Amino acid sequence: MSVVGARPNFMKIAPLHKAFQKYPSISHRIVHTGQHYDANMSRVFFDDLELPHPDVYLGVGSGSHAVQTARIMVDFEKIVLAEEPNMVIVVGDVNSTLACSLVCSKFLIPVVHVEAGLRSFDRTMPEEINRIITDSIADLLFVSERSGLTNLRNEGIPDSKVFFVGNVMIDSLVHFKEKAARSTIRKALGVEGKQYAIVTLHRPSNVDVRDNLASILSMLDKISQRQTVIFPVHPRTRKMISEFKLGERLLSNANLILCDPLGYLEFLCLLESASLAITDSGGIQEETTYLGIPCFTMRENTERPVTVSEGTNTLMGFDYEKTAVEAETVFQGNYKKGRVPELWDGKTAERITKEIANKLLLN
Ligand code: UD1
Repeated sequence: MSVVGARPNFMKIAPLHKAFQKYPSISHRIVHTGQHYDANMSRVFFDDLELPHPDVYLGVGSGSHAVQTARIMVDFEKIVLAEEPNMVIVVGDVNSTLACSLVCSKFLIPVVHVEAGLRSFDRTMPEEINRIITDSIADLLFVSERSGLTNLRNEGIPDSKVFFVGNVMIDSLVHFKEKAARSTIRKALGVEGKQYAIVTLHRPSNVDVRDNLASILSMLDKISQRQTVIFPVHPRTRKMISEFKLGERLLSNANLILCDPLGYLEFLCLLESASLAITDSGGIQEETTYLGIPCFTMRENTERPVTVSEGTNTLMGFDYEKTAVEAETVFQGNYKKGRVPELWDGKTAERITKEIANKLLLN
């Protein structure tokens, strides 16, 4: 049984679901907690990624961390009791990941954590807490980059539980790249054949602080004087722009394109041809590294250090003015070139399902 809850989970489960089809004796069920529920944050990904509808939808919705985590636990426990899964797979670091791992560990149901071992060493990030706790109770841990191996060893997790398999999200990218290239989104946004930067920002540290959000909008204003900027706005960000009354000035800038959150294929299509990505997402740091697109991450740390040491990512902290200046380096073609990290080869799901099948079918 695999758990998905929020937008970054879907592209990690899709390749696993496909890879499980090779094992007819394993029935793979998908539970959607409903942590994300808007069509453009959830359903479009099932369509784009050719995922079947979830077998179970819990519909927990938004709430404070305690409320959301608790609701998922209460509802997921009922599913586990009714369906008695032999193993539960959780991915990433969202509240659904933590909540469902906790439920299973009390029933002694083996928990598999995909994307284990990543650490930002910043406990002000709710995701860091989710990562540490999930890894401490998981029975099988699949790691996407070598830093994960070191982190898990340092936390006393036995090597026998840990497998370095590469990045399963990149499997989705490899598989859907051609299909994404056929999307008409560039034409629809009027950027076909043009140079443009793409922006996604949703972390509380950037968007829940008025001064930071105001500085971000000034930064985008500046960058948009050089190149078109496309900014698909996350629901949290939209809410904060409106709460802080920062929306008006955005309307007057025709070179700053704001739109609703995009589907997987549309976003991938835009990302592939972008001259620069500015983000605070985890996954986009990795996707840009794979695609060789320059990426500025608006955070002081990253749990994905390989994207900085080998890839195209640079941590900009919260220095929005410097970011606008550095964008010029990128536009002039003077930015570092990266390389694709080890085992980010589109075959991670095969490696993971093989290991899971070994455990399930031999027991
Ligand atoms: C969550 C994850 C974060 C991940 C992000 C990706 C946690 C702790 N956070 O953050 O790690 O990077 O998803 O998007 O699990 N909302 C809607 N529609 C939706 C979902 C949310 O309008 O479909 C609004 C609600 O007002 C909600 C707010 O967005 O209060 C934030 O949603 P929430 O799921 O709490 O956190 P994210 O910021 O999306």
